[in-house]
Amino acid sequence: MSELWYKDAVFYELNIRAFMDSNNDGHGDIKGLISKLDYLKDLGIDCIWLLPIYPSPGRDDGYDIKDFYNINPDYGTLDDFKELIKQAHDRDLRVIADLVLNHISDEHPWFIEGRSNPDSPYHDYFVWSDDPAKYPEARIIFIDTEISNWTWCNQAGKYYWHRFFSHQPDLNFHNKEVQNEIKNVIKFWLDLGLDGFRADAVPYLFEREGTNCENLPETHVYLKELRKFIDENYEDKILLAEANQWPEDLGPYFGNGDEFHMAFHFPLMPRMFMAIKRENNSAIIDIIKRTPEIPANCQWTTFLRNHDELTLEMCTDEERDYMYNEYARDRQMKLNLGIRRRLVPLLDRDFRKIELMYAMLLALPGSPIIYYGDEIGMGDNIYLGDRAGVRTPMQWNEDRNAGFSKCKPSKLYAPVITDPDYNYNAVNVESQQNLPSSMFNWLKDMIVIRKKYKILSRGDLNFLHSNNRRVLSFYLEYENEYMLCVFNLAATDQPVKIDLKQFQGYKPLEIFGQTELPKIGKSAYFLMLARYGYYVFYLIKNKAET
Ligand code: BGC
Repeated sequence: MSELWYKDAVFYELNIRAFMDSNNDGHGDIKGLISKLDYLKDLGIDCIWLLPIYPSPGRDDGYDIKDFYNINPDYGTLDDFKELIKQAHDRDLRVIADLVLNHISDEHPWFIEGRSNPDSPYHDYFVWSDDPAKYPEARIIFIDTEISNWTWCNQAGKYYWHRFFSHQPDLNFHNKEVQNEIKNVIKFWLDLGLDGFRADAVPYLFEREGTNCENLPETHVYLKELRKFIDENYEDKILLAEANQWPEDLGPYFGNGDEFHMAFHFPLMPRMFMAIKRENNSAIIDIIKRTPEIPANCQWTTFLRNHDELTLEMCTDEERDYMYNEYARDRQMKLNLGIRRRLVPLLDRDFRKIELMYAMLLALPGSPIIYYGDEIGMGDNIYLGDRAGVRTPMQWNEDRNAGFSKCKPSKLYAPVITDPDYNYNAVNVESQQNLPSSMFNWLKDMIVIRKKYKILSRGDLNFLHSNNRRVLSFYLEYENEYMLCVFNLAATDQPVKIDLKQFQGYKPLEIFGQTELPKIGKSAYFLMLARYGYYVFYLIKNKAET
């Protein structure tokens, strides 16, 4: 397999708890996931991203780790994990997992000992202060639950620092021992065959007076050390950065190709949703133009939805208000600075909009991640707490508990979706696999096409001038090949004239139906697009012109 496999890969994000329950205790588990690997392979996935798999009190769905070296007993054992890696690799599927390095659970033994004994080496594993006003420029991230980044600890007689929930004390990365601990964790899991990590919350590792404690140079120095450690000891492993930051601050996470292999493009995602509501291409064009070039061995990761709220942190106040107004009219839909809804409810179950959003995702720069359940258009439950409403059991078929588990429904870790529009009786894998025109089968075909044309994953993007702001048009270029991509962001049919002078003599070949269009001439090329319609053309060079 190619060393740069992640540049062309399609990723799939899942929480083991939510995917498939093999022992009918109401929680998904590793054995359940193993039984569904063929499903993921069939969909065309290359790499699975597992949400935290470690023992945890579960107050932040596993992002509150209490033991870095084991598997959450609800999910199985280390042997099950080894079997998962083997079974995945046998199918040419890779597996990465969350590495939560910024913080741990307050039930982790390091914190239990560190807070009660100032002489313990673990005391300095955390960030303490007598003054809860320290680092005033650091923002609070979970604004719906937390009022400060400091929490008083009775046992220590001081405040401890936390960027997320107060039960998640931040680790002190100024301490070399902490730095080494994380290296050991990395080693442990890579030695078991894991293919890499999605590194959680990396902007916040270090704190420094007079700064907002995000993206500090010392953070990048340490992250580069982790990369070096991985490169020196392993082959083909990847590091994916979760850095919810503006494009200019994201660039440094790639370093000179010596830090992260990949990073989520957070600012692009809400702008895709904005663009189709405003029926205007400028939000997407502006953010892509603001996106830095990245080293040749790096790749963006793009997504429409994930396990968190649809974050609006990388939006201006005006943009955020617009998004709330359009996508979160019910107060229940808002959470922190975001919207806790799944993809298909956000898009009003409009199949044309869904297709358009996925088509853009597959053509814009980066490797796409699909969030479990979004391939069949699962609904959400905005009345469950925190982000639980977008983490409900996967809907496999119309049997009890959507085929996820045979337990009593009341024993499930979360209720299945039963609202009429998204009821698992109708929205499930089995029925969609059997229906040729289903969302599942459509997406599967799209993934096949995406892989057939490497230019879709590797191409450089260049925007094209047209006479219609409701239409987004650009071409991709890779090794002297070209692809023309045109998306109608509007709810009405739209004509567009695109300046394609530079491709005079080429013939557009529509890649889904393999239909050729008339040759491109001197004057602007005319296309008519249906509402939310799109075209992706491979540009064939006319032999006579060569
Ligand atoms: C994860 C969240 C989690 C937080 C704290 C994030 O960025 O995606 O799900 O709550 O880190 O660990």
